[in-house]
Amino acid sequence: MTKRSGAQIILAIETSCDETSAAVLVEDGGRPALRSVVILSQDVHAVFGGVVPELASRAHLRTLGSVVDRALDQAGASLEELTGVAVTAGPGLVGALLVGVMYGKTLAWSRNLPLIGVHHMEGHLFAPALEDPEYRPPFVGLLVSGGHTMLLDVRGWGDYRLLGQTRDDAAGEAFDKVATILGLGYPGGPVIERQAALGRPDRYEFPRPMLQELDRDGPAQYEFSFSGLKTAVLRAARSSPDLEHDRADLARGFQDAVLDVLVAKTAHAVEALGYQQAMIGGGVACNRALAARLRERLGASVRVAIASNRLNTDNAAMIGAAGLWRLGRGERSGWDLEPAADLPMPGLARPTPHRPRERRSADVT
Ligand code: KG4
Ligand code: ZN
Repeated sequence: MTKRSGAQIILAIETSCDETSAAVLVEDGGRPALRSVVILSQDVHAVFGGVVPELASRAHLRTLGSVVDRALDQAGASLEELTGVAVTAGPGLVGALLVGVMYGKTLAWSRNLPLIGVHHMEGHLFAPALEDPEYRPPFVGLLVSGGHTMLLDVRGWGDYRLLGQTRDDAAGEAFDKVATILGLGYPGGPVIERQAALGRPDRYEFPRPMLQELDRDGPAQYEFSFSGLKTAVLRAARSSPDLEHDRADLARGFQDAVLDVLVAKTAHAVEALGYQQAMIGGGVACNRALAARLRERLGASVRVAIASNRLNTDNAAMIGAAGLWRLGRGERSGWDLEPAADLPMPGLARPTPHRPRERRSADVT
């Protein structure tokens, strides 16, 4: 890859959970452009029904070097050409984050490159920017992953207002736990989506948690809760005489309930703020029914930006996109950069009142 003088070529690293990923990005006319992304999904966790933190750290340690080499190779770039390093600094599993942060820090220090620690959820917010030239703030962002559910008013890059988040389980976590209840594999999102497509919509009418708060205009208006819904599915599954037969209908009933709440709150926020754009990010954004329903609810006058599936689930490309933006503004992390399991999101106006839970396992409580 030939380097133009002044052009940015950065390496990005993501190791916050169970994906080991590296990417090479350049800046192209003020926008991030992806040159390569390598994502290695750790399959070791599948047999445990959830991510085992210790195994995740070890797997990152074993594979990160090769993943970085591969990303540089695919981009046709060399270490000498790099102008910066971006790495996920949190939130996530602290041992897993530590592997990426140490690697990124060492590389940047040894080559005297600027280093930027990136917030994982800000990365999810930037993902569509890699594929969609029209994507820019202001918009309402719905970030739904295995560890978080956040509804954000994105007034500008780096200028975020938290409208609401989950009080207990994250949306993706609920998908994973319900998959366990129904005897499906891990991760749960894709299998639940497939089962739900086969299920009947009217067999199980599960509660729509906190949906009624939408009309009350109070502090809980845009908040979510999925723990009670998961318990309702558990009860229904236990009282099913033939789970094999009822599985698809239960998955459909559960998915419909989750999507109803996510779609109603996101659409309400878009309308209340008078925006013409919304985005869905994080692993649950891979769910096609969610995208279809939000688009249908908002109509043709509102754009709904969603990255392709490989950029919705955890990857280093999105970390690079956010990192490029922050490096471009002259931001730098110090050599004392440490990973933080509960790193606060930069530029977030309202402090996070409820601590997001780390995704540890798809245990059913
Ligand atoms: O963003 P992500 O890759 O990792 C975290 O930062 O947590 O999100 C993973 C989550 C998992 O809980 C997974 O079940 C969910 O995203 N997911 C889905 C789908 N694909 C992945 N949820 C619903 N429908 C899907 N198709
Ligand atoms: Zn994520």
